[in-house]
Amino acid sequence: MKRISTGIPGLDNMIEGGLPSPSLTLLAGDAGAGKTTFCTQFLCKGADLGEHGLYLLTFGGPSDLQINYASSYEFVKSAYFGNEIFYLELEEMVENACKSKDFLDLLEREIDLLKPARIVIENLSVLEGVLKEEYWRFLLKLSHMIKSRSMVALVTEDAQPGIPYPANIAQVADGIILLQNEVINFARRRSIEILKMSGTSHHLGKHAVDISVKGLVVYPGL
Ligand SMILES: Nc1ncnc2c1ncn2[C@@H]1O[C@H](COP(=O)(O)OP(=O)(O)OP(=O)(O)O)[C@@H](O)[C@H]1O
Ligand SMILES: [Mg+2]
Repeated sequence: MKRISTGIPGLDNMIEGGLPSPSLTLLAGDAGAGKTTFCTQFLCKGADLGEHGLYLLTFGGPSDLQINYASSYEFVKSAYFGNEIFYLELEEMVENACKSKDFLDLLEREIDLLKPARIVIENLSVLEGVLKEEYWRFLLKLSHMIKSRSMVALVTEDAQPGIPYPANIAQVADGIILLQNEVINFARRRSIEILKMSGTSHHLGKHAVDISVKGLVVYPGL
């Protein structure tokens, strides 16, 4: 199986060298657990290798603001943006309550144009409120598009009280990675846990994570 590096120090060795290609991985976690940082490292790793990456925002734009935040990390080069890494804002389409076909057509056009090897979709479940009964079929078609174009996708979702991730995205996902930032003995402890990854003999349980200007670093076994 072909694998691609996540760009997260310490993580590739826990998943037989990287994320399977093609695949769709759900990256879920608490607020501030490091989801956006993870995705930025993932796309920057691709950019270092000369691959194109597409970053889809369902909200939280404008993308200039996100690029500004991302630029505070050491591993981010401004030359990536517009050359290897491309942001696409879906906020207006969400506001205009567009249909499943509109989202899929736009994605198809952008994928044909940019030929991304890596794709990030932040907070995909925002589209559930817009697409309603179309949403499940949209997820299946999206997953099919990702596989048929040989892409590796990361989909981020916020954990909700008592619900670590949306069940419908988990069903179409080949892998699930959980990031947490829990209070343990009055201190905050960051961790990562690989809940599932198809075709991969991966480490189990929680492993320590640090976030600094270098981004996420995973310490397997800690
Ligand atoms: N440049 C930086 N240097 C060091 N630490 C940073 C830097 N930028 C962010 N952080 C830390 O990393 C944390 C995680 O940020 P990140 O945005 O990746 O989390 P997130 O899971 O995407 O959060 P959200 O749920 O708000 O989307 C921040 O809350 C902050 O503590
Ligand atoms: Mg975020």
